[in-house]
Amino acid sequence: MVWKEIYESKLASPEEAIKLIKSGDRVVTSFGCCEPLGIERVLVEHYKDYNDVQVTSMLLIGETLWVRDEVKGHFTFNSFFASGSSRKSIENGVADYTTCYFYEIPKVLREVIKPRVTIMSVSPPDENGYVSLGTNVDYIESTLDYCEVKIAQVNKYVPKTHGEAIKHVSEFDCFVEIDEPLPEVPSVPITDVEKAIGKYCASLINDGDCIQLGIGGIPNAICAELHDKKDLGLHSEMVGDGIIDLIKKGIINNSKKNIHHGKSILGFVFGTEKLFHFLDHNPAIEMHPIEYVNNPAVIAQNDNMVSVNSCLQVDLQGQVVSDTIGLTQFSGVGGQVDFVRGATMSKGGRSIIAMPSTAKSGTVSRIVPVITEYSAVTTTRNDVNYIVTEYGIAQLKGKTMKDRARALIQIAHPNFREALCNDFFERFKEPAF
Ligand code: COA
Repeated sequence: MVWKEIYESKLASPEEAIKLIKSGDRVVTSFGCCEPLGIERVLVEHYKDYNDVQVTSMLLIGETLWVRDEVKGHFTFNSFFASGSSRKSIENGVADYTTCYFYEIPKVLREVIKPRVTIMSVSPPDENGYVSLGTNVDYIESTLDYCEVKIAQVNKYVPKTHGEAIKHVSEFDCFVEIDEPLPEVPSVPITDVEKAIGKYCASLINDGDCIQLGIGGIPNAICAELHDKKDLGLHSEMVGDGIIDLIKKGIINNSKKNIHHGKSILGFVFGTEKLFHFLDHNPAIEMHPIEYVNNPAVIAQNDNMVSVNSCLQVDLQGQVVSDTIGLTQFSGVGGQVDFVRGATMSKGGRSIIAMPSTAKSGTVSRIVPVITEYSAVTTTRNDVNYIVTEYGIAQLKGKTMKDRARALIQIAHPNFREALCNDFFERFKEPAF
C-alpha cells in the first residue's frame, strides 16, 4: 500500500477513535503545546462510557480535563509536573504526581506505568507520508515503540519540526483530523529583578558556550542579555520565544559544539505561534527524545555546557528546592538535575541556579537557614555550583559550609541579611562577616 492508502484506512472520527480505549486502561498523552485537546475533549464528554482510566501526562497549559468533578471514578490523572490547573487537585488527592528525573520518564512509562494507549498531536503528512510530532518529542516519541494503541490528532497548526519528530503514517493505528490553534505560553514582560538576574547569568556565559535554559520567568530575561555574545550552542530540554532572535541573529549558531555541530537540540518547546512558525520546516533545529537530550552523559559531550535553571528556595548549605513548597507539589523536577549534572560533567561546564532573592511580593526570603518543613530537595548541595539572585553570584562548589553560607548571605535581599547572619552565628558560633 502506498502511504495515502495507509493514512486513509486509519482515518477516524474522534468518537470512533476513543472506542479504542477501554475501561481500566492506562493512557499517556502529549503535553504542553501539543496536548491532543481535540480528542481529549471528546473522550471527557463520553466519560460515562469509561471506568478507572488513568491518564498520565506532564505540564498542561490550560484546564486539566481529567480532574473535573463529573469524571471522578471514570478518569484519574497522574502528572510528571504540577501546573496551575492540576496543583490543587494533586494537593487534595484528586490527582497524583510521579517524581523522577525527566530523562528517566520514558523508562518509567515503559517499565512501570506501562500505558496501553498513547495519544499525541501530529502535523498533516508530507508528500512522502511522514508526519511530525511538532513541539513535543520528549517522552511521547518512544510511546510509539511500546504502546499497543497509537492515536494521533492530525492538526495543521502543528509545526513540521525536524530530528526524531518525523514519523511515518504506518507507525500509528488511528488518525483524527482536527485543526485547532495550539495552546500557547506567552512571554511575560521582564521585571527589573529578572533583568538584573539575567545580567549576572550572562556574565557567567562566554562566547562559544553551549547553553540550556529552564522554565519560568528568568530564561527570557537571560536571552535578552545574550545579544552581545557569539558562537553559542543550544542543547536544551525546552525553550521559549526568547531564543528566536538569538538564532536568527546567529548568536546561537552551534558552531563550537562537539555533537550536533550546527544544530540546536531540543526536547520540547513552550511558547507562542511565533515560535511554532520559527520551528516549522527549520532544519537548524532538531527535536529529540528526552532520554537522549536530558541524559547527563550526552549533555556532557559538549564542552563548556552551561545550564541555567530556577528554584523556589535555597538553604545556607546550598540545598536547592525547585518543585515543592512544603507538602505542596508546586511544579516538577523536570530536567533541572539532568542538566546540572550534565553541565558539571562537561569539560569547562558549569551550572547556574537563578532566582529572585524574595518571593510573595518581597515578604519571604528565598535564601533561608533551613528549607521549609516537608519540602523536597531538588538539586542537592553536592550538585550545586552557581546561585544567582538580583544581588549577585554565589559560587558554592568546593566551598566549606561556612563559606557557602557567607556567599549566600551576600546575595540575599538586604532586608533578610541580618537575620541570616544571626542564624549563621547560632550555627557556626562565630560572626558571618
Ligand atoms: N515560598 C513561598 N512562595 C514562593 C517561594 C517560596 N520560597 N518561592 C516562590 N514562591 C511563589 C512566588 O511568590 C510565586 O507566587 P506569585 O505568582 O503568587 O507571586 C510563585 O511561587 C512562583 O514563583 P516564581 O519564582 O515566579 O516561579 P517561576 O514561574 O519563575 O518558576 C520554578 C520557577 C522554580 C517554579 C520553575 O523554574 C520550576 O518549576 N523549576 C523546576 C523544574 C526545572 O528547573 N526544570 C528544568 C527545565 S524544565
